[in-house]
Amino acid sequence: MISGADPARIDAFLCERLAPSDAALDDALRSAAEAGMPAINVAPNQGKLLMIAAMAISARRVLEVGTLAGYSTLWLARGLAPGGRVVTLELEARHAAVARGVFERAGLRGVIDLRQGPALESLRAMPGVEAPFDLVFIDADKALALEYFDLAVLLSRPGALVIVDNAVRGGSVAAPPTGDASAAGMRRLLDALAGDPRVAATALQTVGSKGHDGFVAAVVLPAAGAR
Ligand code: SAH
Ligand code: DHB
Ligand code: MG
Repeated sequence: MISGADPARIDAFLCERLAPSDAALDDALRSAAEAGMPAINVAPNQGKLLMIAAMAISARRVLEVGTLAGYSTLWLARGLAPGGRVVTLELEARHAAVARGVFERAGLRGVIDLRQGPALESLRAMPGVEAPFDLVFIDADKALALEYFDLAVLLSRPGALVIVDNAVRGGSVAAPPTGDASAAGMRRLLDALAGDPRVAATALQTVGSKGHDGFVAAVVLPAAGAR
């Protein structure tokens, strides 16, 4: 048994039981490491929470902002209802190429639609037929978190879930501003959420293998659909 309160070791304990890895997930992590990408994917138990969220609402249209090597994308894809699709947006051509290989080897080429380029442009260019999404996971450049959130709501159906990673960043989000654009971007999102009538939103801290961070979770309210 694990004694003491080391969050990373407890994460290992939890993930071993409830979010074990497999060939496709290992492939995503190994491919990212081999390509020199940072290990900033969600933790396994966080990935599984994304899968559960998708399953709970029978999501068929899922949008992700920030693919990296596709680790979180695999979890989202596993939560899809039959016939569902994930659209995932990634800026870096190098990351996109690695992720495409991961999806191909996982047999998910027809399920995951990766669009390479700045997410803001991809979102603004998204034709009406793509909307409305059932679930959006935002995990890209934190400075633009509010812009992504706003577009996510516009592209979502009433009742859709919007989940944002890295809401706490070691507490910097609640500390006096230091000029850190990521912390400032997340703070800007939280401030805007407080007065956003389109959604009900909350934020939760997380600790574990990814340090001290958090998620924003929001549901798009019915009135937003009428805008
Ligand atoms: N969701 C992934 C981790 C994403 S890391 C997982 O959990 O497995 C953040 C990713 O966002 C990086 O790959 C980075 O290249 C990408 N990114 C950064 N700025 C972006 C932008 N403007 N548009 C799209 N993607 C961006
Ligand atoms: C960073 C990005 C992430 O999405 C994350 O979960 C952790 C760290 C980063 O850019 O440093
Ligand atoms: Mg993240």
